[in-house]
Amino acid sequence: MKESVLAKPLWQSSDTSLDERIMQFLAGADATLDQQLFVFDVQATIAHVKGLGSIGVLNADECDTLCATLTAVGEEFVRGELDLSNEFEDGHSAIEYWVTERVGELGGKVHTGRSRNDQVLVATRLYMLDRMATLKSVCISIANACLTRAEETKSQPMPGYTHMQRAVVSSVGMWFAGFAEAFVDNAWLAQQTSEWVGSNPLGTAAGYGVNLPLDRELTTKELGFNRMQVNPIYAQNSRGKFELQVLGAMSQALLDVRRLAWDLSLFTTAEFNFVSLPGTYTTGSSIMPNKRNPDVVELLRAAYAVVQGAMTELTASLSLPSGYHRDLQNTKGPLLRATEHALEALRLIPALLEELVFDEQKLSRAFDPGMFATDMAVELAAKSIPFRQAYRLVKEGLDEIGEFSPKDSLDKRTSPGATADLRLDLIQARLTDISKYP
Ligand code: ARG
Repeated sequence: MKESVLAKPLWQSSDTSLDERIMQFLAGADATLDQQLFVFDVQATIAHVKGLGSIGVLNADECDTLCATLTAVGEEFVRGELDLSNEFEDGHSAIEYWVTERVGELGGKVHTGRSRNDQVLVATRLYMLDRMATLKSVCISIANACLTRAEETKSQPMPGYTHMQRAVVSSVGMWFAGFAEAFVDNAWLAQQTSEWVGSNPLGTAAGYGVNLPLDRELTTKELGFNRMQVNPIYAQNSRGKFELQVLGAMSQALLDVRRLAWDLSLFTTAEFNFVSLPGTYTTGSSIMPNKRNPDVVELLRAAYAVVQGAMTELTASLSLPSGYHRDLQNTKGPLLRATEHALEALRLIPALLEELVFDEQKLSRAFDPGMFATDMAVELAAKSIPFRQAYRLVKEGLDEIGEFSPKDSLDKRTSPGATADLRLDLIQARLTDISKYP
């Protein structure tokens, strides 16, 4: 059965013949990729059918039958009963095929006033909105985990480095709090990106509108978009542009993951030995019996590169004149691949953070008296000695600093955000704000 589907695409007419290899080349990986877009394509098709009903192009019965059939097709697909294999040219053809298979000729009405050009746009956009919501919620979970850990570890001293050289006293809590704030920002970015992406392209057809008064307000509302993407040419021109923004939001979060993973890969070396990773996040070596390697952390670090690669691939595909071009099909692979990979990586972070064990003793051994020098200079300066003079005085006596307590230093660093005043409540308030934001 299926073979005849690809052998007879939606647009096939008797005056053209088809070459199987060319057809496969045209379809590319579309059928497989469209599996991830399928439920969104069905959802948008239902909205389109309702829109046709609202302007009287479909009568109420037709509308009900088509909506019920589309819903059933969507559910069967989710249950794994329908196979969107590459015997189909794409998911759009499969929907029309499966609906027609169930209701006959009426199935041919779902495509009235619509093109696969706006069909793929709207399905992709719904997919992106869905994944932005996931990004937001996973960023919230990461920020939450960081805040909990920051509270627990706020009085655990940890060296603060600049240029990877010992600098001043810091705390494990401050390290966690930094990532908490970062992921609050990343959650906001996901939210803002959703708003920006929430523009409805359905009803722009092939890129020039149609000779029907399509109810685009209805489909915009029905699909939960915040606005209609008005101009049909722009709708086509925005394909890839919106995708880049979505990957941009993903990559911001992964930029922070890359820093976090870098830190962990350093802190777990024998040289630092500040922290140990739970066993499940390490792997053994196939040759060196003594090894446990932080492979998971390293692949988390590499996730940013996957997204950057996809963004480069996407950008390269967008050097086009206005309107639809088949080149645009190539935006789908990088978007889906990078989005799924990014979310897979991000989802591992909360549990990883919860299980990190910092070694207080090893951390305390990493301090040297010089790390107190800045505190001393600032202390003198606060007693009205010009800072430059205080700096010189402390520098001259560097070798005589002797014993000092990192914990005392922690408690004295009272500038807002510093170790004695992490302002976790402020970060928490922002997190609550973004979590409540609809
Ligand atoms: N698979 C196609 C894409 O992703 C669907 C749109 C096809 N449109 C066309 N005019 N051939 O772009």
